[in-house]
Amino acid sequence: MTDISSRKADHINLALQSEHQSQQGSGFDRLRFEPNPLPQVALEEIDLNSNFLQQTISAPFLIGAMTGGCDNGELINRHLAEAAEACNIPMAVGSQRAALELGTQQQARRWAPSAILLGNLGATQLQKQGLDMAQRAVDSIAANGLMIHLNPLQELVQPNGDRDWNMVLEAIEHCVANLSVPVIVKEVGAGIGPGSAKRLMDAGVQWVEVAGRGGTSWASIELARNGSAREREIAAPFIDWGMDTVELLPAVHGACPTLNLIGSGGVRHGLDIARCIRLGAQTTALAQPFLKPALESTEAVIEKIAILQEQLRWAMFLTGSQNLSQLRNATIQ
Ligand SMILES: Cc1cc2nc3c(=O)[nH]c(=O)nc-3n(C[C@H](O)[C@H](O)[C@H](O)COP(=O)(O)O)c2cc1C
Repeated sequence: MTDISSRKADHINLALQSEHQSQQGSGFDRLRFEPNPLPQVALEEIDLNSNFLQQTISAPFLIGAMTGGCDNGELINRHLAEAAEACNIPMAVGSQRAALELGTQQQARRWAPSAILLGNLGATQLQKQGLDMAQRAVDSIAANGLMIHLNPLQELVQPNGDRDWNMVLEAIEHCVANLSVPVIVKEVGAGIGPGSAKRLMDAGVQWVEVAGRGGTSWASIELARNGSAREREIAAPFIDWGMDTVELLPAVHGACPTLNLIGSGGVRHGLDIARCIRLGAQTTALAQPFLKPALESTEAVIEKIAILQEQLRWAMFLTGSQNLSQLRNATIQ
């Protein structure tokens, strides 16, 4: 196993453990819809269809970026991609850095010939290898968009992580201007706030995945892998660094009303998806909730997607929302 693939295998094992989910909770439960006991609509008439990157998808969520590049990574990605194809739900692949560096064949497009697929690279890779690597990431899976992840805290806690973040915004700007597909910038669980969202917009970015605090905690996962007592002591106060998705979404939407937002970080069921849509997200993403079904089978992922869709339908029914535009105006407390 290479260093990267053993790191990815650790990530999967640790991400499955509840102690590496935010210990402060997600805050989503604080947001309550006003119940509407007169929905005036039949459950089966509720329309979950949504638009994403100029295509219609079957519901407003995507399979969030999770890693390939380790022994069972291929199987995980196959189950996710086949389910994405079967359900017409977009899938974001995990970081393609290892595959591109090792020259490994990436199969996601073969398993999902018509689904929306999003490539993925870390922002610090772009700073070093630029547009060429970004275009190779896109071409290798015929991606419909490229996700660029910002993870400065994770890199600090990770042994030998990237600590030079100079010129990252410029590298992103260059990609946005020259890449053949749209760029989506995301965090990995600490969140992108209004100030950073504005700077990204000024650099030409039109899509931001908030990936706020409340779900998978990468500081906690990397801390568990870090054997240095000194580094662990330095990192300890930052374990809950970041802002909750439920706070970030309205703040970013208010500051940048024309920016397209993906609500993510601690989204755990269809009611959370409804909450994100109500708070201004175009769509949402869930990563960790798909990990266990993805280790099992394509059918298990399809079933998870069906449950999320049904939960969203219930949330819409109980707020009297026949479609997503009506959900966006549902009353909240
Ligand atoms: C096992 C695992 C691997 C991940 N790998 C990546 C990655 O390679 N690239 C990336 O941008 N985000 C990665 N993430 C972060 C997720 O896309 C997401 O932003 C974060 O986990 C918060 O969402 P969640 O609370 O739904 O898990 C990974 C998440 C998990 C659980």
